[in-house]
Amino acid sequence: MKVRLGPLQPERLLRKILPRGLFGRSLLIVLIPMLVLQAVALQIFYGSHLDELSRRLAGAVAGEIGFMIDQIERDPAHRTLVLQEGDIHFTFQSTFMRGETLRHLPPPDAPGPVDNDLANALAQDIHRPFNVAWHAKPGILRVDIQMADGVISINVPRKRLFVGTFYIFLVWLIGSALLMVSLAALFLRTQVRGIRRLAEAAEDFGMGRDNGPIRPEGAIEVRRAASAFNRMQDRLRRFLSQRTTMLAGVSHDLRTPLTRLRLAMAMQPSITAEDLQDMENDIADMERLINIYLDFARGEGSEQAVPIDLPLLLEELCGTAKRTGASIDLSTTGEMIVTLRPEAMRRALTNLIDNARRHASQIWVSAARSGASVRILIEDNGPGIPEQKRETLLKPFESDHPGGTGLGLSIARDIVVAHGGTILLLDRPGGGLRVMVELPG
Ligand SMILES: Nc1ncnc2c1ncn2[C@@H]1O[C@H](COP(=O)(O)OP(=O)(O)O)[C@@H](O)[C@H]1O
Ligand SMILES: [Mg+2]
Repeated sequence: MKVRLGPLQPERLLRKILPRGLFGRSLLIVLIPMLVLQAVALQIFYGSHLDELSRRLAGAVAGEIGFMIDQIERDPAHRTLVLQEGDIHFTFQSTFMRGETLRHLPPPDAPGPVDNDLANALAQDIHRPFNVAWHAKPGILRVDIQMADGVISINVPRKRLFVGTFYIFLVWLIGSALLMVSLAALFLRTQVRGIRRLAEAAEDFGMGRDNGPIRPEGAIEVRRAASAFNRMQDRLRRFLSQRTTMLAGVSHDLRTPLTRLRLAMAMQPSITAEDLQDMENDIADMERLINIYLDFARGEGSEQAVPIDLPLLLEELCGTAKRTGASIDLSTTGEMIVTLRPEAMRRALTNLIDNARRHASQIWVSAARSGASVRILIEDNGPGIPEQKRETLLKPFESDHPGGTGLGLSIARDIVVAHGGTILLLDRPGGGLRVMVELPG
């Protein structure tokens, strides 16, 4: 297989990542500009203002500690007093441990940007060896300073370094983003629901399920599309019922003169028995053709889909064929209840079996589940159809034999497709044609 590389790749990647639905895409259209905006605001605010604030708070704490240490150095006799004053005015908690020495030097790496600011400020303001325990206790960090006769240990409440506004700002950013996205999602859902309902209704109607008109909702364009769809559905419904009436009329009107003709012929003494047989055959042919054309014109009709026991249906069709002299083999595995329009599906399968009878001496019909669908095979030992002719012969009025209407395969395909299925003409291994019908369910 050829793999395309180069400029197409990122585009494909993007298509893979981006949500495919209208709801997801519209939400992204709202979300992305907002997130960019918030990020820019956050950067501007935190990048300048908060940085400065944090530095100053750290500077104040370091300055106070430096001031105390300087005082004590100058006058060690007043150490207790200075430490007490610091505790009162700077909300510290200080102790002096005589004769101690600091073990870990220099201070370990600061765990966050705020701590980093403090570490820098301390290094500037304290001219003695010191160490910092960043998480001495919950909410408290401890600065230990090596003095000549011991260690001064100062507990600093983290609150003194903490800038609450940043979190308020962050909460506000996230909160407002969530609020806007939920509002957008709420409004978008109605819009998208309107479009989704429209798509579902169109799909259903296309498959022959008539669920009545849909309720227009959402934006004015979506409502307009829904109303237009309802009107179109209405016109189609009327057209379908007109066609059914007309077809009933046509089939009646055409059959009556044929019957009359047949009667009139039988009463004619001048016609020989042989001629009479020929003419009757012609009339029978005409009747058969009329029926086929009418079948084709009738199309789906208004038959409703119902759950059908597929093996039973196939048994019935094969039984009919067998009784009229066909050599036909049926094999099915397990239970298969499939929702379909029984008359239409019977017509489609009969057409396929009839074709096989015309071209071959032996027919095999089989059905089995294949994943989420059922697969029906109609196989024969005839000449098969060359690959290049398959697509053509599936079209209406394409026939290879005299007297054929060329409608059998075309009707079968229309019916299978209307059931959401597929029909394929294939080679049967061992010669002949294999028709594969796959139906959902
Ligand atoms: N089982 C088959 N084996 C060989 N040829 C087939 C078979 N089924 C159909 N065909 C070919 O496809 C053509 C179209 O079939 P169809 O649409 O049923 O029309 P018709 O049977 O009226 O000709 C036939 O004329 C025939 O040539
Ligand atoms: Mg046919």
